[in-house]
Amino acid sequence: MPYYRAVGELPRKRHVQFRRPDGGLYAEELMGEEGFSSDSSLLYHRHLPTAIVKAEAVTPVGDTRLEPNLPLSPRHFRTTELASAGDLVSGRILLAGNGDVRLSYATSDQPSELYRNSMGDECVYVQEGTARFESTYGVIEAGPGDYVVIPTGTIHRWVPRGRVNVLAIEAAGHIRPPKRYLSQYGQFLEHAPYCERDLRAPAEPLLAEGEEVPVLVRTRGGLTRLVYRNHPFDVVGWDGYLYPYAFNIDDFEPIVKKTHAPPPVHQTFEGPGFVICSFCPRPLDFHPESVPIPYNHHNVDSDEFMFYVGGDYSARRGSGIDVGSISLHPAGFTHGPQPGAVEAVIDAVARGVTTTSEMAVMVDTFRPLDLGQGALACEDPGYAWTWSR
Ligand SMILES: [Fe+2]
Repeated sequence: MPYYRAVGELPRKRHVQFRRPDGGLYAEELMGEEGFSSDSSLLYHRHLPTAIVKAEAVTPVGDTRLEPNLPLSPRHFRTTELASAGDLVSGRILLAGNGDVRLSYATSDQPSELYRNSMGDECVYVQEGTARFESTYGVIEAGPGDYVVIPTGTIHRWVPRGRVNVLAIEAAGHIRPPKRYLSQYGQFLEHAPYCERDLRAPAEPLLAEGEEVPVLVRTRGGLTRLVYRNHPFDVVGWDGYLYPYAFNIDDFEPIVKKTHAPPPVHQTFEGPGFVICSFCPRPLDFHPESVPIPYNHHNVDSDEFMFYVGGDYSARRGSGIDVGSISLHPAGFTHGPQPGAVEAVIDAVARGVTTTSEMAVMVDTFRPLDLGQGALACEDPGYAWTWSR
């Protein structure tokens, strides 16, 4: 996180005695990244955060097999055909992944159990529905268009209000705003497409009572259920730079050029081996002879995974792409607008159209994405040939 935040009760100095009303000591915990050489927070627990009473191995549910994108093809997956079994964590359907990131879809109206992903940060994009995100840091109310960024190791759970559809981006490291948007000390610069005021984080502690509370822990070795003696939501205060936060795609301020701009202008977050971009409604390029949709392009170092979350994608008309679709355009393949789309948009501009309503979330990976069984189950098999029709 790029800035300091303090929530709840804190002692005046760090690492000094901090006492409960009954005279006992609160238990201080430092959560820090990169060997405590990067962002961290100090949390003050009512109970020992170390007190576990049981550990049991858990067999993963769902099919986590991945296979190479061979023969190499552009792909189209229809998430509207997928049905999760479980909650927004256990019900994740693996669509694609590599050593850096896993991309899953989930749809559920069930609360998840307490969960700690100790393999990396998560960025959960809420496509539809609303949910209460509860964590040791407090609550975030999440709704359509929210990216919820969850630091590694944050104990949390999702409580949907009705059905919620999400794209879960699970990193093997940390997800942060792009460096080029930030000053050397971490403040968002004026040219950045969003800033601190757009980020929503817990505002007050979340306290819950309970004994023998299970927490599902994901590590590189697998899944474990640790049973805590006391409920982990026992933090009376915390401060630091490390905490979960939400950013809504509607708060992204698109950067527009006179002629068509490539995807880096849409970048929202970066992670190790990938970037996350937001394609938002914006004015069309305004050069009098502009072609205001993408040129054919070959992102030679990346696979482009694009989730179409709303609006109208005129560049893709005739491809079968619709809201809820995901396209995967891999390195090794040049992609671009469907046949006739360039002429159609030039005609539209001539008729007075000045804006595009497209909305999409794109994950560009720097290593090839392998395909999950969930993606193959909802694949449109004719997509690869749609540019030749
Ligand atoms: Fe592209």
